[in-house]
Amino acid sequence: MLYIVTVIVIVSLLEQTYAVPCSGQQISVCECIDTLVDCENLNLTTVPSNIPITTTKLGLSNNHISTIAEHAFVDLVSLESINLFDNALSSLPAELFSSNINLKIITLQGNNLSSLPAQLFSSNTNLEVINLFKNALKFGGLVFLKHKPGVYKFGFQYFKQFTTRIVFVEHQASDYVKIFFNNALSSLPADLFSSNINLESINLGSNILSSLPPELFSSNTKLRTINLFNNSLSSLPAELFSSNINLKVIFLNSNVLTTISANIFGSLTNISDLNVENNPLVCCDLKDFIEWLDLQTKLTEFSGQCTYLANDTDIRDFNTSECIIPESCKHGDTNKRSDGEWKIPRKWKKKPSPLIFELKSSMK
Ligand SMILES: *[C@@H]1O[C@H](CO)[C@@H](O)[C@H](O)[C@H]1NC(C)=O
Ligand SMILES: *[C@@H]1O[C@H](CO)[C@@H](O)[C@H](O)[C@H]1NC(C)=O
Ligand SMILES: *[C@@H]1O[C@H](CO)[C@@H](O)[C@H](O)[C@H]1NC(C)=O
Ligand SMILES: *[C@@H]1O[C@H](CO)[C@@H](O)[C@H](O)[C@H]1NC(C)=O
Ligand SMILES: *[C@@H]1O[C@H](CO)[C@@H](O)[C@H](O)[C@H]1NC(C)=O
Ligand SMILES: *[C@@H]1O[C@H](CO)[C@@H](O)[C@H](O)[C@H]1NC(C)=O
Repeated sequence: MLYIVTVIVIVSLLEQTYAVPCSGQQISVCECIDTLVDCENLNLTTVPSNIPITTTKLGLSNNHISTIAEHAFVDLVSLESINLFDNALSSLPAELFSSNINLKIITLQGNNLSSLPAQLFSSNTNLEVINLFKNALKFGGLVFLKHKPGVYKFGFQYFKQFTTRIVFVEHQASDYVKIFFNNALSSLPADLFSSNINLESINLGSNILSSLPPELFSSNTKLRTINLFNNSLSSLPAELFSSNINLKVIFLNSNVLTTISANIFGSLTNISDLNVENNPLVCCDLKDFIEWLDLQTKLTEFSGQCTYLANDTDIRDFNTSECIIPESCKHGDTNKRSDGEWKIPRKWKKKPSPLIFELKSSMK
């Protein structure tokens, strides 16, 4: 511990020793530490001029930059990382990073980007991480990135070249790639992840998705975690998880699901975490789901409530023998939906309880 503290002290002393105001007009508000240029937290509204051409790391986070000139970074051929976290960018010029062929990390989290020019990253063949969390990206406005073969670690080979659009991304750890989290995606193309066969985690949380293509995850057999938290999903396609044999963790909470068919889990038996909280689930429409839940031996974390006659109940505590299958649903399959659930879910009725009979009889 003492050793670590000592190292930190020495490092910060070194930094202090070497941190000097950069020289040149405008850039002198920033600090230069060797080839690192720190312009963070300065209330800047534009990128300063005279950034040293030797700069390898450029920090511009926590400013109020709303536009960047096309040639702002044109001389910075050594640039390896640029941090524009928490600014006010709503668009970027197409050629902005075209000279920065050594760029590995681009952080654009916390801006107001609703689209990106298709060729924005086309020269950046060494890119490893692009962080676009917390922007206003809509699918139609995204560019698809030319993937760099061989960069396994950060998941770039996961993303094939679409002709016009896509995607991104923050990697959390080498085998986890978070995608699209907290943007404004309302729909996704069916083949979005079709070449991303090594993906282990997909995070589509906090978007405005109201439906999903049935084949969306069909190529992603290594998926272990799917996060669909906080969208507007009112139903799930029956085939959605049918290929995801390694799936362990599913977040479906905070959507508008009224029912969940057990069919969507098919033969998946390794689910350990399932969260369906904060959905308007109707208890009597969950009969097969509740039966499926009872059979899961590895499901250690489950949470979800359903409504039965205006009362919320923990799904696992609900006794489905209270529900009566409507007569019209008992015959043939004509009333079944494509996911195997009954087509007319709210026709479930409560069995009259003996108490009600007694009351009725005594009132006569
Ligand atoms: C940035 O602006 C805020 C609010 O006006 C102010 O409190 C802060 O001192 C400014 N920071 C710098 C480095 O000027
Ligand atoms: C975000 O961008 C939109 C236009 O794309 C604009 O109307 C809105 O004011 C911007 N919001 C912020 C916080 O800058
Ligand atoms: C849910 O998503 C919306 C964006 O669609 C976001 O503004 C909100 O903060 C999210 N809520 C939570 C609890 O993350
Ligand atoms: C569940 O996981 C085990 C290993 O933990 C694996 O051998 C088995 O094939 C998995 N089951 C399914 C249905 O994929
Ligand atoms: C709903 O909950 C209330 C309060 O716990 C209880 O009195 C009532 O009997 C419940 N209704 C049904 C139909 O279970
Ligand atoms: C469910 O209710 C039925 C009839 O009311 C009862 O026979 C059965 O034991 C209950 N099951 C559980 C698990 O409580």
